[in-house]
Amino acid sequence: MENNKKYMIETWGCQMNEHDSEKMSGMLETMGYSKVEDREKSDLIIYNTCLVRENAELKVYGNLGELKSLKRKNPDLIIGICGCMMQKKEVRDVIKEKYGFVDLIFGTHNLHKLPELIANHNQTSKMIVDVWEEGGKIVEGVPAKRKHDFKAFINIMYGCNNFCSYCIVPYTRGRERSRDPEDILNEVFKLAKEGYKEITLLGQNVNSYGKTLESKLSFAQLLRMINEVDGIERIRFMTSHPKDLSEELIYAMRDCNKVCEHLHIPFQAGSNRVLKIMNRKYTKEKYLELIGKIKKEIPNISLTTDIIVGFPGETEEDFEETLNVVKEVGFDSAFTFLYSKREGTPAAKMENQIPDNIKHERFQRLLDTLKPLSHKSNEKYNGEVVEVLVEGTSKTDDTVLSGRTRTNKLVHFKGDKGLRGQLVNVKITTTKTWTLEGILTYEE
Ligand code: SAH
Ligand code: SF4
Ligand code: F3S
Repeated sequence: MENNKKYMIETWGCQMNEHDSEKMSGMLETMGYSKVEDREKSDLIIYNTCLVRENAELKVYGNLGELKSLKRKNPDLIIGICGCMMQKKEVRDVIKEKYGFVDLIFGTHNLHKLPELIANHNQTSKMIVDVWEEGGKIVEGVPAKRKHDFKAFINIMYGCNNFCSYCIVPYTRGRERSRDPEDILNEVFKLAKEGYKEITLLGQNVNSYGKTLESKLSFAQLLRMINEVDGIERIRFMTSHPKDLSEELIYAMRDCNKVCEHLHIPFQAGSNRVLKIMNRKYTKEKYLELIGKIKKEIPNISLTTDIIVGFPGETEEDFEETLNVVKEVGFDSAFTFLYSKREGTPAAKMENQIPDNIKHERFQRLLDTLKPLSHKSNEKYNGEVVEVLVEGTSKTDDTVLSGRTRTNKLVHFKGDKGLRGQLVNVKITTTKTWTLEGILTYEE
């Protein structure tokens, strides 16, 4: 079905949002819309928003302001805004009051209604606001138009029950719900048949997969089932909460040949006192013990993490404990965040919010500690032959390919762009802090 209409979606936030945008693309393309990258050429613009930190939120407001003049030039343009920010009433009120030119407001739980919302808007020309407070039964069968044709995201669960005291996600994504294993496997089979090589299983805390299922299938068991699917070569997953990472899962990772040697395992803070106030439900010692077990079973694993700096009440000693964990684990890399106050979370009401200058000073020290570790973790690849899934070409030179190792390291090497989506072997010749460089090779 062609309707000659063009759409674009801008996405902020995590992989969950990225994949939601792929689902919206799927629905829109079924309606006959085609994708463009240019706002000026669009008949429909959707902003898929994130609320996790203040700067994510501010960016959306900045970008929305710019759409006002576009709408003036083209009154038929439909502007939709959805995602985590829309789950918050105060944000919706601001949009209604200050950005009256927005046509559609919907949330994380009802994005499958997009075609209906567009139809309603077309009939009434009014602003349509439809946000569900809670996610009900998981909606299956929404077609996704994926960004890549060789690697894919798959939701295995939605929502989060952990209520870390700084985090808004449980309020924007609702309670934890696991998808039925049959639905997940059918999606994996379909992707394998279409030629996909790599899948990433998505959930806010994949380690607690299965708790809401009658069968109580564990995440480790799910991994073992997916590992049997022919055609899929690599399995990744995001995110693992340390409190729920079982030995059973470590063994499954060790035994399943397709599960990549990479684990993203956020620790957030090193001080037990801070971890407790964060409601993380593990101690520094437990975390380090877990890392020890993982390294023992999967010696070449690459470990990445999330760290928050400047949580309310964080003292210099607390922060030094964070640095100690970083050094002791020797992470391959880390996502580092300045604590951001989120209204509606318990931490926002805590006293002793840390002044910005101290936060920034600690943040810099954290980066200075992480950088040499990343460099060192890459150095051991020198002279090694690694398997790389070719993802694309360099922006400036299309004879330079880039791709990722199983350990999720970015590699650049010379080759033909026709190799995109293929698994190749690359001999590493240069190691840098954030990337590896090498040459194509046919050695194993
Ligand atoms: N469910 C995932 C992470 C979701 S949010 C997990 O638990 O690991 C991604 C990261 O954002 C978190 O790991 C945390 O480090 C960071 N984050 C969440 N809320 C934050 C806040 N209020 N301020 C700063 N960083 C935050
Ligand atoms: Fe947020 Fe914690 Fe849930 Fe992750 S586990 S989404 S940090 S509440
Ligand atoms: Fe942001 Fe929502 Fe993801 S708040 S980090 S887009 S779950």
